[in-house]
Amino acid sequence: MTNPIIKLSNITKTFGDKTILNNLDLQVNKGESLVIIGGSGTGKSVTLKCILGLLKIDSGSINIFDRDIEKSSINEKQEILKKIGMLFQGSALFDSLNVWQNISFGLIKGKRIKQSLAKEIAIEKLTQVGLKKDIANLYPSELSGGMQKRVALARAIATDPEIIFFDEPTTGLDPIMANVINDLINNIVRKIGATALSITHDIESAKKIADKISMLHEGKIIWTGLSSELEKTNNKHVKQFIHGKTEGPIEINLT
Ligand SMILES: Nc1ncnc2c1ncn2[C@@H]1O[C@H](COP(=O)(O)OP(=O)(O)OP(=O)(O)O)[C@@H](O)[C@H]1O
Ligand SMILES: [Mg+2]
Repeated sequence: MTNPIIKLSNITKTFGDKTILNNLDLQVNKGESLVIIGGSGTGKSVTLKCILGLLKIDSGSINIFDRDIEKSSINEKQEILKKIGMLFQGSALFDSLNVWQNISFGLIKGKRIKQSLAKEIAIEKLTQVGLKKDIANLYPSELSGGMQKRVALARAIATDPEIIFFDEPTTGLDPIMANVINDLINNIVRKIGATALSITHDIESAKKIADKISMLHEGKIIWTGLSSELEKTNNKHVKQFIHGKTEGPIEINLT
């Protein structure tokens, strides 16, 4: 039996009268790379935010490293969060901090590492994601979208986390840059032996970075399979989604 490092059991999350997650179950095993796919607005980012404790779930339980995070003290939660890196959808870099300060934010605030050492680590991470160290003093607004993603990736891995979340790591990038990011994710996850939970609309990216893929639909995981099984499945929802068909069981909500 493998031991899940992240375990969501019966999670429900509502906003007002809208139920976004409806008794959702999800498990990610140690060292595994799992990708969640699903339509826009189905609750993929909300799922990650619930795991990180940025949103409070209505019911169910979230276990990380065998700890129920809802029942953990603030200190225990902080200890858990220190072992997690996150690449937010849209990069979400701090505008007022330069590149190295963005990358080292968690090292200085979370791990209380001295500025000079944190800067050295930040620059090492910059080169790991294929950027030159001379951009360390630039601000996010001075970078292209692809560079911002890489800086956000460097920030996500700065503390050598045991778990990394990637929310839409390739969205908005050209196909070549998307592949550069896919390769970086694969190399980094393998190199630091991290467990990865990612979200993407980009099916090609999902197939490249995932061991397993799960599809979220109407608040639940409706399909999980190996990356290699995605194209072969008979699941009608998955087939419609990956081929982008307008006809099928998935209702298209244009409002
Ligand atoms: N803080 C919030 N308050 C109210 N509603 C929210 C909040 N955050 C998310 N939602 C709603 O929850 C639903 C799911 O949002 P979420 O951001 O998880 O979608 P998603 O699956 O990540 O979509 P996308 O692929 O477009 O990023 C949406 O209807 C959204 O409006
Ligand atoms: Mg999202």
